[in-house]
Amino acid sequence: MRTIIGIVGCGNISGIYLKSDQVFEDLHIVGCADVDQARAAARAAEYNIRAYSVAELLADPAIKIVVNLTIPAAHAEVATAALQAGKATYSEKPFALTREDGRKLLDLAAGKGLRIGCAPDTFLGGGLQTCRKLVDEGVIGEPVAATAFMMSHGHESWHPNPEFYYQRGGGPMFDMGPYYLTALVAIIGPVKRVSGMTRITFAERTVTSQPKFGQTIRVEAPTHVTGLLEFANGAIGTLIQTFDVWAANLPRLEIHGTEGSLSLPDPNTFGGPVRVRLKDKREWEDVPLSHIYTENSRGLGVADMAAAMRLGRAHRANGELAFHVLDIMQAVHEASDLGKTLDLTSTCERPAMLPLGLAPGAVDL
Ligand SMILES: NC(=O)c1ccc[n+]([C@@H]2O[C@H](COP(=O)([O-])OP(=O)(O)OC[C@H]3O[C@@H](n4cnc5c(N)ncnc54)[C@H](O)[C@@H]3O)[C@@H](O)[C@H]2O)c1
Repeated sequence: MRTIIGIVGCGNISGIYLKSDQVFEDLHIVGCADVDQARAAARAAEYNIRAYSVAELLADPAIKIVVNLTIPAAHAEVATAALQAGKATYSEKPFALTREDGRKLLDLAAGKGLRIGCAPDTFLGGGLQTCRKLVDEGVIGEPVAATAFMMSHGHESWHPNPEFYYQRGGGPMFDMGPYYLTALVAIIGPVKRVSGMTRITFAERTVTSQPKFGQTIRVEAPTHVTGLLEFANGAIGTLIQTFDVWAANLPRLEIHGTEGSLSLPDPNTFGGPVRVRLKDKREWEDVPLSHIYTENSRGLGVADMAAAMRLGRAHRANGELAFHVLDIMQAVHEASDLGKTLDLTSTCERPAMLPLGLAPGAVDL
């Protein structure tokens, strides 16, 4: 039985979610809404679904999950409204801009007995699930260290509305950090202590994409963020998330263990490559992917939440995981501001690995 879904936020990322209706057997997207009614109308016409106002969508009793694809600053507000309307909700990342707002969302969902989920779901893709399996099988031994490097010069060269990337709650850590941190936490486990240093290098950004070519954006969020992460199992992570560099040769994501090293795929993708170099080998070796969903499968986390609701099991891209990632991100910024190492108070379970041998469109056997 397919779960009826409504989408709030009809911008850039909404297209791939709207396509997920055709990909996952659990999802049936019936309509969309946006503060900008014209955007909702255009998306609705494109996908032959209903254009709602936000209030109408939240009031439709048929809709069971509200997928929140608004800008980060609106995530908590829209998710709160959805929960208050009695709907399960799944937001794009980040979960919220502050741990206070994130905690309120978890409490509201728990109080109402409703599911709450959050992107990214790339950690459920074939590439990162293969990595999870390798680590669980002990192929690289005990994880000792991890590196997570997202080196870029920001999004104003391609995104049509790039302002939010530089406003409070934007910045590389809140934008891209969720991919890297969710992947690491899902594979290595929770983080217990962080330190960090951050800076803003360019006070203004000039948009070179259309339609806002030539407009300037005042930068409010740190655009170069570095952090050290101590995982609960003792592994130590080194992180750089930046919009301030023009070029780099650093690998995106690696986990190093007592028996060898694992080169993970770009955690903003669902596929490979996955490579290992074991202690007694002289070369890296490609590992065939063990799991499906290797193309852009955004919506996989929503499909998993819908199936979990139907089956009464836990869902993987869940609020506790997203809240822990938010806590890490905020704490790295605070550690920088305070010049201190900070202990985290949040934790989470590693979500279960997806089953092997899934049929396309399914998340359970
Ligand atoms: N663009 C990408 O490649 C990408 C990839 C992965 C995740 N994301 C995430 O997806 C989210 C949306 O990104 P985007 O690129 O689609 O942004 P966008 O600016 O293109 O679209 C956001 C939409 O939300 C609408 N909106 C804002 N506040 C609202 C509110 N209170 N109620 C209803 N609608 C509201 C806006 O009018 C806009 O149409 C962000 O959290 C972003 O981090 C984006």
